[in-house]
Amino acid sequence: MSTSEHKAKSGFETRAIHAGYDPDPTTGAVIPPIYATSTYKQDGVGGLRGGYEYSRSANPTRTALEGVLAALEEGERGFAFASGLAAEDTLIRAVCRPGDHAVIPDDAYGGTYRLFDKVERNWGLAHSPAAVSDVDAVRAAIRPGETKLVWVETPTNPLLNIGDIEALAAVAHEAGALLVVDNTFASPYLQQPLTLGADVVVHSTTKYVGGHSDVVGGALVVRDLELAEQVAFHQNSIGAVAGPFDSFLTHRGLKTLGIRMDRHCDNAEKIVDFLTAHPKVSQVIYPGLAEHPGHTVAAKQMKRFGGMVSFRVVGGEEQALAVCENAEVFTLGESLGGVESLIEHPGRMTHASVAGTELEVPADLIRISVGIETADDLIADLERALG
Ligand SMILES: Cc1ncc(COP(=O)(O)O)c(C=O)c1O
Repeated sequence: MSTSEHKAKSGFETRAIHAGYDPDPTTGAVIPPIYATSTYKQDGVGGLRGGYEYSRSANPTRTALEGVLAALEEGERGFAFASGLAAEDTLIRAVCRPGDHAVIPDDAYGGTYRLFDKVERNWGLAHSPAAVSDVDAVRAAIRPGETKLVWVETPTNPLLNIGDIEALAAVAHEAGALLVVDNTFASPYLQQPLTLGADVVVHSTTKYVGGHSDVVGGALVVRDLELAEQVAFHQNSIGAVAGPFDSFLTHRGLKTLGIRMDRHCDNAEKIVDFLTAHPKVSQVIYPGLAEHPGHTVAAKQMKRFGGMVSFRVVGGEEQALAVCENAEVFTLGESLGGVESLIEHPGRMTHASVAGTELEVPADLIRISVGIETADDLIADLERALG
C-alpha cells in the first residue's frame, strides 16, 4: 500500500495533508510540483507513462488534488474544474438529457439558479425550486420518470437553511434520481454528504477548500464508479478543467482546512453572540442557534455550524447597505470562505440575478463570511459599522 493509500484511511487532517500524493519518486518532492506542461512524451505510440497524454485529460498536479478531494469527501473519485459552475455544468450534462427535470433549492446560490434557468433550460432541462428544509416539498416537486437530479445546498446561500441529507437521499432514490449536495458552505471538514447517502458532492473550491481567496475552482466527488466514468468522460469532452497552477493553490489551501474551519467556527460563534444582543439587529440566522429551524438536523449531520452568518437589520435596505459600506476589517466583497472576513448585501450583490424571482432574498439581509482574524477586532468592526 502506498503512503497516500495508507493515509487515506487516517484522520481528516492526516488525509488532508497526505492523501492523493506520494513524494515524487524522482526527486522526493514532498509537495506536488506544478506540472506546467500541456503534453507528455510517449514511450512509443500509445505508450503512456502513468496514463498521461494531454493535460486536458489528466495532469499530475490536478490528479493529486482530485485524490485528496475524494479522500476527504470519502468518495470513489474526485474531479477538479475551472470553477464551481463549470463543475455543475459538467455534472448536469453528464447525467441529464433534453426532457429531463431537476429539483433545485428555492434559495439556491444565484449563479446555480441562473445556470439552470438561463442556460440548461434552453437545452431542454426543466427545473422546479423547492425548500431544502422541507422534505415533503422536495418530494412533491419531483416529476416521476423525469426528475434525474435532486440538487441541494446545505447550509444554503445566503439564508443558511438546512436540508436533511439522509432523508433527501431517500426521497431522491425512491424516484430513481441522484441526490447532489453542494457542500461549499460546510466544507468536507464539517460535513460529508456521501457518507449520508448523497450520490455527488459539488464544491466551489474557490471558497473554504482553497481558503485564501486566491484561486477560482470547482470540484465534483462521486461514490459510484459508473457515474465516475460518465463524469470523467464529460470532464475531458467539455474541457473545463482546473489548470496546474490553480490545482496547486487549491491543494495547498486544502491542507489546512481543518484548523481554518475550527477558527472560522470559533469566530462565527462569538459574532453570533454579539449580533444576537445588538438592538439594531432584528434577526440572526445561524444553524448553531437553538432557535434556527434546522438546528437539530444541522447538529446531526455537521461537526460544527460553519463560518457563514446572515443577519437582518431593523433599518431596512438603507441600513443594510450602510453597514456593508462602513465596515473596515470586514471587506466589502462577494465570495466567502477565505481567511479574511467579507461582508456583502446579497440582494444587490451575489443574489442580484434572482431579483424578481421566487428566489429573491430580503432587502435588509447582510451576509458575512467570518474569517480567521482576531475575534475582538471583528466584533469591534461590526459594532462601529452598525452604530
Ligand atoms: C454555494 C455555491 N455553489 C457554487 C458556487 C459557484 O462557484 P464558482 O464561483 O467557483 O463558479 C458558489 C459561488 O459563490 C457558491 O456560493
